[in-house]
This record gives sequence, C-alpha cells and structure tokens, in this order.
Amino acid sequence: MSAMQIKQYDAIVVGGGGAGLRAALQLAESGAKVAVLSKVFPTRSHTVAAQGGIAASLGNVGEDNWHWHMYDTIKGSDYLGDQDAIEFMCKNAAEAIYELEHFGMPFDRLDNGKIFQRPFGGMSKRYGAESVARTCAVADRTGHAMLHTLYQRNVFAKTDFLIEWFALDLIRDQEGDVLGVTAMEIETGEVYALHAKATIFATGGAGRIFHASTNAFINTGDGLGMAARAGIPLEDMEFWQFHPTGVAGAGVLITEGVRGEGGYLVNSEGERFMERYAPTAKDLASRDVVSRAIATEIKQGRGVGRDGQAVLLKLDHLGEKVIESRLPGIRKIAMKFANVDPAQSPIPVVPTVHYMMGGIPTNLDGQVVDSGEVIRGLYAIGECACVSVHGANRLGSNSLLDLMVFGRAAGNHTVKTIANQSHKPLPSDYADLTMHRLNQINQQQNGEVVAEVGDAMRRCMQAHCGVFRFPDLMQQGSQQILQIAERTQHLQIKDKSQVFNTARVEALELQNLIEVAKATMLAAEARQESRGAHCREDFPNRDDQQWLKHSLYYREGNRLDYKAVQLKPLTVESFPLVARTY
Ligand code: FUM
Repeated sequence: MSAMQIKQYDAIVVGGGGAGLRAALQLAESGAKVAVLSKVFPTRSHTVAAQGGIAASLGNVGEDNWHWHMYDTIKGSDYLGDQDAIEFMCKNAAEAIYELEHFGMPFDRLDNGKIFQRPFGGMSKRYGAESVARTCAVADRTGHAMLHTLYQRNVFAKTDFLIEWFALDLIRDQEGDVLGVTAMEIETGEVYALHAKATIFATGGAGRIFHASTNAFINTGDGLGMAARAGIPLEDMEFWQFHPTGVAGAGVLITEGVRGEGGYLVNSEGERFMERYAPTAKDLASRDVVSRAIATEIKQGRGVGRDGQAVLLKLDHLGEKVIESRLPGIRKIAMKFANVDPAQSPIPVVPTVHYMMGGIPTNLDGQVVDSGEVIRGLYAIGECACVSVHGANRLGSNSLLDLMVFGRAAGNHTVKTIANQSHKPLPSDYADLTMHRLNQINQQQNGEVVAEVGDAMRRCMQAHCGVFRFPDLMQQGSQQILQIAERTQHLQIKDKSQVFNTARVEALELQNLIEVAKATMLAAEARQESRGAHCREDFPNRDDQQWLKHSLYYREGNRLDYKAVQLKPLTVESFPLVARTY
C-alpha cells in the first residue's frame, strides 16, 4: 500500500443515497466545499429501489393532519420512537414534499392536479379509525425519481462527487472530535485521508447480514462498522423489519403500495387471512403485524408453493389499467422473478428482511451522540442513523421522509457549524487503524475465505434472529456470531492487486457487516419482551416497566447499555402508551 494522500473539504458526505444527496445539497448551495463519496454511482444507491412512496399529511385524498401522522408513527413504533423526533419529522413532512416538487420530482397527479397519494400500512384517519391516503408516489418507482431529482440538483449546485470510493475508517483526534475519514479509490486502490470540518454518514442499511433480504448487495453497514470501531455505540439494533411481501425465493421487494391500491393476501385455502389478524386495518396493518400473520399461516400449514413457504398476493382484480399506471415496476419484477403476470395470477410472497430500525444515535440535527454528549464533527442521517423516529417498527413510506427531513436538518446544521471554523489538524496516527486493517488482509496466510465467513454469518442471522425469536436459538446465535466475528479478523484474499480489487472491498465490507450482526444478535438476546419487530416466544408481551428503553451496543467488550425513550414531544401533548390493535 502506498502512503496516504490527503484531500481537504469543508464537509464530506459518505453515501450518495437520498439522505446524503439531500444534506449535500444544503451544503453546496451555501457555497461550502462538499464532496459526496459513494461506493457506486450515486443514482445506483439503494434509495433507487424504494417503490411505494413518501409519507406526508398533505390531505390531497381526504382529510389528514400531521398530528395523526405523528400518532400513527408513535403507535407503529410500539412506543419506542422518540416523540420529539417523530413530531419534528411529521411536522416538516409537507414542506419536504413541496421542496422535492419544486426541485422537479415528477410526482403522480390526481385529476385536480394535486400530488397523488395512496394508503399505506398503519396509517389512520383520526386515531385508529379508517385508513387514510398519506403516501405521495411516483408510480412504484418513487425512490428512482427522488434520487435522480436530487442528483441533478447537486450537479447544478456543484457538489463534488467521489464515485466508486469506499470509506474505511473514521479519523478521531485525542479529544474524540471527528476530522474526516480514510477512504479507498476503488479504481486505483489508492488510500486517502479525507480531511473535513464535518463528516456526514449517510451509508444506508445493512440488510446483507441476513441470507434473504430486499436490500442491495451494497447495503453492508459501512457507517455502522466505522462507528463501532471508533468506539461509538449502535442503538436499538435488535429491531429489524421484515417486509411482508418479498418475492418468494428471490427476496425482491413487492411494494406495500400493491395493498394500498387494493391488493390483498390469501393463504392456500384462498382465505383472506388478514381479516382474522387485524379486523380493522386488514392487509394494511403495520408491517410487523402482517409479517407475523404470514409466518403463522405458513407455520400452521396454510402456505403455498412446493415447500409451503409462501402466501399469495392477489391484485389481478385491480385491472390492467391500474396495474400499468400505478404498479408497472412490480409487474415486471413479478414476471422476471416469480414467473407470473400479476394482472392474471397472484404473486407468491414471503416476509423478507427489509429495514434496520436501529443505527448510530443522533439528535434532531443529525449530530452523533454518545452518553448524552455530541461527537463534534460527526453526523449520521437516513437508515444508518437512529434519531429515533421508527422505534421498534417503521411505517412504510416514513423512510424516504426520514431521509429528506433529517438530511436537510443535518445539512443546515453543518452549514452553520462550519461557517466560522477552520480545520483542526489531523492527529499523527490518523492512518494507523486503516493501514493495519489493510496490511492484515493483504498479508494474511492460511486465513479465512471471505465468501465462506460471510455465508456463515448470513445463515446464522437468518436461522437465529427471524420474525419469531426463540430463547435457545438466540443463545446459540450469539455464541456463533461471536465465533464468526473472530474469523473476520483473519480474512485472506488471493488477489492482492490494486486496481478495482473487489475481493479486497468484500473483505472490508464483511468486517463492517459483522459489527452489525453482533450488535443485532446480542441486543436481541438481551431484550426480554416483545415489541414491534422483536417478537420473542418466551416473552410474548410488551413490558413497559422494564423495557421502555433504547439499547446501546458498544463494540469494546461487546457491552450493552440502555437509555430512556423521549416521551415528551416538542410542542404538543404526549401520546399515551396503549395496546396496539389494528
Ligand atoms: O413497500 C414499499 O414500497 C416500501 C416502502 C418502504 O419501505 O418505506
């Protein structure tokens, strides 16, 4: 490895998805020197795969109000969401949508010209009553439209892009301040220090810790791995969302928008079974509820397919016109990955890992927080962050909103903080951790094969930390994952070349994934209750006395700690904790 070169910016944004591009735009438009670093071309970031839409109480299809959006989000989170953050997000939602509209995002329209909205899961019109259409959409390709809109805006604003670059480690000084990241230009294999007054992590999710996932192969928890190695905790990592409708056997997402448009689930007996599990919301109950219902139907022998491991999503009754105008993307996906035309036959689907509710703890400005103290110079936004607006279960279409609202907030805060600040000098050991890791991978003899260790991790997580969680399985899973983590310290690559060495990148990605897997497994085993997406066989009820608290995982010593949930909103009344019924 050659010595590190240094590049200097006011701010470096790690990740070119929706959150990263939204934050970068605020910075570039303020005149700051900002670079977005991305492993892939920015418009290939995972935001591009978001289908169904972005939530905001515009009230374009019937009456709606941000208080109801806030209530639904708190209830959907099974009360683990921080109410100040949820209030901030829901209150700012409409403005976020109108901004996107003005940036040129081509939202679908109603006949009266207003932005089209469709119902999504867990959305109610007045506390628990009938569902409301709150999700603004561009057919079933909303993320695609959003990402292209934001990318072209950033190009116009002169954001610098470091494309096909891979961030490696945080640079922290003696005082714990963050002064940038080390990163590799994948094309050349050269390693750099990116020295910045502010570093914004927008590195997305980590669904690739599981065997079956709707997530792209790039979702390897890079921000979380870097944070954990730098001594920063990971919050609420036991909460992983299983999307009810991944294509069986392929994992590709079929949007909740299908059910929003009137599609529904049936079992092998042709029964519309969600009527039994959620008599009011039915197929539009929140995702944890629908995923558990499907898993139960399968377990009780009412699944379909050769191995009985799926149920059917029926939408042929919507007709060609609705399917072609509102759901054209999923029609193609169903044809390609399930070999069915949904305008004629139902799609076999199964709950599939989709979203990480936990992440790097932040405040409302996106600043990373540890033990109540802000870590100067470091922000986290989007799926890699835990602010926490999703608590124990995210509502569909709140994730794109999270990206926009907190991306903008972090961008604005950074603009203010860096305005009259100069760069702190890099510490003398800024390159050490990264060079140590790279040298170890390059020099390892008789080591572990990256693909085998990765496979062991994914199979362990899938088998031991699923929709339903069992004490003996979680205990075995925790032991196994710690052993697998040890193996990631001895990864060996055969190809030592510099140029576009994807074997080296995969080894480094696995070292990030394993931090996420460890945090997930250990926090899940420790939480002795069922809440949102964390459903334990031995503790079937929510336990607010003992467990109304966020978990914090520290890599050092694999330690767990806890902190209080913020139950006090900013301006409105708190919402009382009630049992969740749908
Ligand atoms: O079903 C979907 O379209 C996914 C949306 C989301 O995860 O927010």
